[in-house]
Amino acid sequence: MVDIDARQRLKLLAGAASAALWGCSGGGGGSDMGPVTPSPTPPTPTGFQPSDGLLRNTFRNNFTVGAAVQTSQVSNNSAISDIVTSQFNTIVSEFEMQPNIIAPTEGMFDFSAGDELVQYAEDNGLEIHGHSLLWHEITPDYFFEGTRDEIKARLQNYVTTVVSHFRGKISVWYALNEVVDSTGVGTTLPYRNSNWYQAAGGPEYIDWVLEAARAADPDAKLYINEYTTELPNKRARLIQVVEDLVARDIPLDGVGHQCHLILQDTAQSVLDAIDAVDGLFAGLSNRITELDVSVYSDPGSCWENGTNCDADYGSNIPESVLDSQAQLLRELFNGLILKSSLDSVTFWGVSDRDSWLNTSPVTRSNYPLLYDRNLNVKTGFRAITDRNFVI
Ligand code: G3I
Repeated sequence: MVDIDARQRLKLLAGAASAALWGCSGGGGGSDMGPVTPSPTPPTPTGFQPSDGLLRNTFRNNFTVGAAVQTSQVSNNSAISDIVTSQFNTIVSEFEMQPNIIAPTEGMFDFSAGDELVQYAEDNGLEIHGHSLLWHEITPDYFFEGTRDEIKARLQNYVTTVVSHFRGKISVWYALNEVVDSTGVGTTLPYRNSNWYQAAGGPEYIDWVLEAARAADPDAKLYINEYTTELPNKRARLIQVVEDLVARDIPLDGVGHQCHLILQDTAQSVLDAIDAVDGLFAGLSNRITELDVSVYSDPGSCWENGTNCDADYGSNIPESVLDSQAQLLRELFNGLILKSSLDSVTFWGVSDRDSWLNTSPVTRSNYPLLYDRNLNVKTGFRAITDRNFVI
């Protein structure tokens, strides 16, 4: 029996839980598994006010720094938008470019939300990344109807339509989301035994996506995007998948490391994941694509059935916890600036109040990002932008 460590079980079950709630095949997004609705009136920031561009300029010689955003969060000159345009140089759509939003029913494409984000990026001089062309968790049912050839044709038409639509505006696609097996058990190793794997009768759907995307926009960079690459067992399976794609000259430009971390993680484990790609694939680059640091570790049954979860801190998060988070971030970024293959780091949100982790695995207050619920910078922001800042 493979020992699935708590976090892998956490992520694995998170996927199952969120798939169930997001209506993974319904296409509608199902229950709101995303962030809690932001407060209506932006609070007045207090405390340290970073100078314009401090975060992105700290790393301007190393990699771009981005945030996942939702169209609703950045429209109408919101306070979140002010932070994004002041401190970041890239954005990624948190969910509006996923298949269940763009093509919830066959033959109909709705790019309105994605286009709004692209326009926002253009208006504010931001680079925008696409996320994602395929994700088993939120693929509408109709994608799996018909013969294998019909499924292939439908998927390649979807990818061609989407990448062509955004050609010249989106130059980086996290094309394949979570296609690698995360449990280390089962017969489809190293591939996730997903609805896509079953519909295609194997991993060839991965080729279909990458080949169609490359044909639609030869200039777009294509990534395979995975969580827990900081864990050696998962990383080994990812490397197997990448090795096969590279060996067969299937279009691929790099690896996205989601990095949904917990306080018990080490910076070195993330750096090892980047080194593993660098050591084997000289032509590929790395990106950190969904960085956050949960303040809960939740070993055991929390993600299975919502029991035995770490107690909710509520509004009383101890400074010591935020200091530990800041120390981990400082060690991580001190290592990341040494990785020449690392093109970008994206946080999975701006403010703690909007994180997906406020509703996964249970509804409770999480504190995983750089800005607090009052849109003040946290200790982690100070720790990575000021080497003299004392945590
Ligand atoms: O904002 C709308 C709301 O107006 C509407 O009433 C409600 C019900 O339809 O939906 C709300 O949008 C939801 C959105 O989260 C914001 O809350 C979408 O339905 C829901 O699908 C969306 O979930 C996103 C999820 O991916 C599925 O796309 C989460 O925000 C997002 O954080 C999560 O991100 C994933 C990555 O793609 C892959 N890695 C793991 C990561 C976390 O699960």
